[in-house]
Amino acid sequence: MGKVTIIDHPLIKHKISLLRDENTGTRDFRILVEEIAMLMGYEALRDLPTELVSVKTPITTADVPMLSGKKLAVVPILRAGLGMVNGILALVPSAKVGHIGLYRDEVTHEPHEYFCKLPENIDERLVILPDPMLATGGSAITAVDFIKQRGCTNIKFMCVIAAPEGLEALKKAHPDIDIYVGSLDEKLNENAYIVPGLGDAGDRIFGTK
Ligand code: PRP
Ligand code: URA
Repeated sequence: MGKVTIIDHPLIKHKISLLRDENTGTRDFRILVEEIAMLMGYEALRDLPTELVSVKTPITTADVPMLSGKKLAVVPILRAGLGMVNGILALVPSAKVGHIGLYRDEVTHEPHEYFCKLPENIDERLVILPDPMLATGGSAITAVDFIKQRGCTNIKFMCVIAAPEGLEALKKAHPDIDIYVGSLDEKLNENAYIVPGLGDAGDRIFGTK
């Protein structure tokens, strides 16, 4: 059974509040998303396995814990998930990176796939799936479907902001994955945008409209 973690940390709250401000420009928005992803990654990777390794310090020789070399993959949901990748890679620089391209139809809000490229042996890896926004949940559910179809069983989904509707839908569709949320917002509006949210994450990261 997966777990849902709503991260409760003043640094993350503060940075998400800055992201919400419509006056925050592209440059700062991008930096903040990356910083939040790193802080959330610190929590999400808390259960990475370690093993004891012998190290000679200037004083003595000691058996000390090191990451046990578990294979990792970071697989952002394009486009907006790209904004979180470098923050996570700052913590685990040797992780492989895959991409899943999905866009939401503006009328139906259904996700459509346009690209999928995953690292080798994806079925043996812990997959971290970042996307800043979990709105209806359609994109995240589809992305997890893809990864599971390729044999992955160990998946952590990370989002900066979730709507209650999307979180429920993702938990229902994929009860076995771990989900990390920076802020659980109030609701979706009639256009399936998160309220209060931050607007369109992809447009704000890439400066498009
Ligand atoms: C946004 C966001 C998620 C999706 C969330 O992407 O980054 O992928 O919407 O909505 P959902 O939970 O209702 O599926 P969008 O489709 O706007 O594409 P973009 O990242 O290319 O801007
Ligand atoms: N995608 C976004 O970027 N923002 C929302 O509020 C909902 C979906």
